[in-house]
Amino acid sequence: MDVRRAVVEDTGSMAGVIAAVAPEDTLGAQPPVDVEGRAQGFRELIAGSGAAWVLVEAGAVLGYVSLTPRTRGVFGLGMAIVPAGRGRGGGRALVEAALGWARLSDAHKVDLEVWPDNARAIALYAATGFVVEGLRDRHYLRADGTLRSSLIMACRVD
Ligand SMILES: CC(C)(COP(=O)(O)OP(=O)(O)OC[C@H]1O[C@@H](n2cnc3c(N)ncnc32)[C@H](O)[C@@H]1OP(=O)(O)O)[C@@H](O)C(=O)NCCC(=O)NCCS
Repeated sequence: MDVRRAVVEDTGSMAGVIAAVAPEDTLGAQPPVDVEGRAQGFRELIAGSGAAWVLVEAGAVLGYVSLTPRTRGVFGLGMAIVPAGRGRGGGRALVEAALGWARLSDAHKVDLEVWPDNARAIALYAATGFVVEGLRDRHYLRADGTLRSSLIMACRVD
């Protein structure tokens, strides 16, 4: 598996990763995923002041990480890997690629939100330098009508 910067040609596959992972309920995105809308969002991100990387094996995109400009000097991190690509260091490699780029930018922080029960993702973020900054209590209205809390985690890059 290799990690490389995402290019426009990857954006459909990146959106496909979201569609494949969303039914697990580990992401903010819920089915049905607007794949073309997501691909367009990735195209705009890559063409603008954000950045993204893909996890690739045998020419197939297995996962991605994206950095989206938030408030000045802060990028928001989002990521997903299809089940077949997990548990082999790809998550760590994606996060490290994104943090390495952010450290060379003018940014001072990378932040993210994660469901409090997503132990695997939280372990990855903690292992790569993220700390918990807070909890959004009962914040997100889900398709089934429940309210979900999210952990806010962030990593200094200045
Ligand atoms: C979260 C995710 C990106 C991690 O990817 P991954 O390929 O499994 O990550 P890695 O193989 O690099 O493993 C990362 C770390 O988590 C640890 N880990 C793996 N499974 C774990 C589990 N069930 N509980 C706790 N830690 C776990 C690994 O030991 C590894 O630590 P190490 O690098 O110190 O050995 C991936 O599982 C995924 O896409 N999940 C669904 C979508 C998602 O949750 N996205 C994040 C939303 S905020």
